[in-house]
Amino acid sequence: MYLGIDLGTSGVKALLIDDAQNPVASATSSLEVSRPHDGWSEQDPASWIAATENVLDALKLSHPKELAAVRGIGLSGQMHGATLLDQSGAVLRPCILWNDTRAHAEAAALDANPLFRKLTGNIVFPGFTAPKMAWVNSFEPEIACKVRKVLLPKDFLRSWLIGSFTSEMSDAAGTSWLDVGRRAWSRELLAATDMDESYMPDLVEGTQVSGQLRAQIAARWGMSANVVVAGGAGDNAASACGMGVVREGQAFVSLGTSGVLFAANAAYLPNPQSAVHTFCHALPNAWHQMGVILSATDSLNWLASITGKSAHELTAELDDALMAPGSVTFLPYLAGERTPHNDSAIRGVFDGLSHQTDRKALTQAVLEGVAFAFRDSLEALRQAGTELSRVVAVGGGSRSVYWLKAIATALQIPVDLPADGDFGAAFGAARVGLIAAENADPLAVCTSPKVAQTIDPDTQLGPAFEHAYRRYRALYPAIKGVSS
Ligand code: XUL
Repeated sequence: MYLGIDLGTSGVKALLIDDAQNPVASATSSLEVSRPHDGWSEQDPASWIAATENVLDALKLSHPKELAAVRGIGLSGQMHGATLLDQSGAVLRPCILWNDTRAHAEAAALDANPLFRKLTGNIVFPGFTAPKMAWVNSFEPEIACKVRKVLLPKDFLRSWLIGSFTSEMSDAAGTSWLDVGRRAWSRELLAATDMDESYMPDLVEGTQVSGQLRAQIAARWGMSANVVVAGGAGDNAASACGMGVVREGQAFVSLGTSGVLFAANAAYLPNPQSAVHTFCHALPNAWHQMGVILSATDSLNWLASITGKSAHELTAELDDALMAPGSVTFLPYLAGERTPHNDSAIRGVFDGLSHQTDRKALTQAVLEGVAFAFRDSLEALRQAGTELSRVVAVGGGSRSVYWLKAIATALQIPVDLPADGDFGAAFGAARVGLIAAENADPLAVCTSPKVAQTIDPDTQLGPAFEHAYRRYRALYPAIKGVSS
């Protein structure tokens, strides 16, 4: 038995798998996000531990024997958060999360130092960890002077599980302090935010052992005395392990709150100017690139909330037959955008409204707008040297066949839908727990799920989508500076 624990933004999920990787049981416990000011997004690290206690309690109640048979645990987590600890290991303030944009000025200032792009292979985005520390240095000096350790969310959870401070490459790559090509902390980058390596946890590869489960925790949940905890991964790399996106050329598109176009790479291929993220993968000697769009299903949920319909009711109004884009274009920048613009101030627009525009036309434009945002990410990956021939679709939005057809046609590549099953971050984390516990071959463990259906690009509508994509591309420069 192996256990995956995914510390997400909206909740903690634990998934037990057996030796043949079949899911055996899962439990979830929700988390709150607090937004005390515009652009802020915070969580109390104590709530992550409480939620993890809840899911372990639930598993102990429903599957005590299986929990007792666990040999390895893998962790996955929301990336980029800054959890600040003092000398005694106490948390100094709420964690500043990945989708908090308060540090945009500090991010721009660090990004202006050429060392950051050179060593991290990425733009310093406002959501990344280093600019948050720079913000705390400027605005909360009474806290900054007490900071002795900065941990990513799942690594804080790990410190509770194993009693020491360790991170792994895939999540560390999103801090702006890692030399991503060398897979090591960078002394120069840490110095740029007044720190040194003593502020950072130790580093292991995601598939390596990071430590042993503390005896007290093992006893409390009736687990064995020698359970190992793997390095684990940031949530996107963990999902990739779950979906078998681990070899060069394999890719997935995730239609969740945010949207991700993720490609596995056998080499380090940075291209920061296209705003693509280049991070270490959870497997040794592997990297990945991804385009991140901040509002994917969030865009449809927003339209649902203002029209008083559910997201499902809106997509049901379109049927499944793909239509040519109409006169309305939607830019999904409800919370700013990462790839390809790195613009936290930009906001969304509907363009081309007329007397004929009805709710259905708005839904169609929202689905197309998100599809075109993925096309932007595909172009960014291309500029970074990655050609994709197909992608696997995951996430809540992939339940809409119309949306998948629009994405396949906008990207001009087939989209594969996996057969029913749970291939998310918790499953990927459990796989990584298995690899670490058994010293197994990562590529042999991280296989791809069966494909239930392939959605091909619509060749007849291809030219109409190309035309609409060009219109979409022209809109951002036209509104930049008007709405921000
Ligand atoms: C990745 C990112 C998000 C979070 C969401 O760069 O910011 O995918 O990891 O949990």
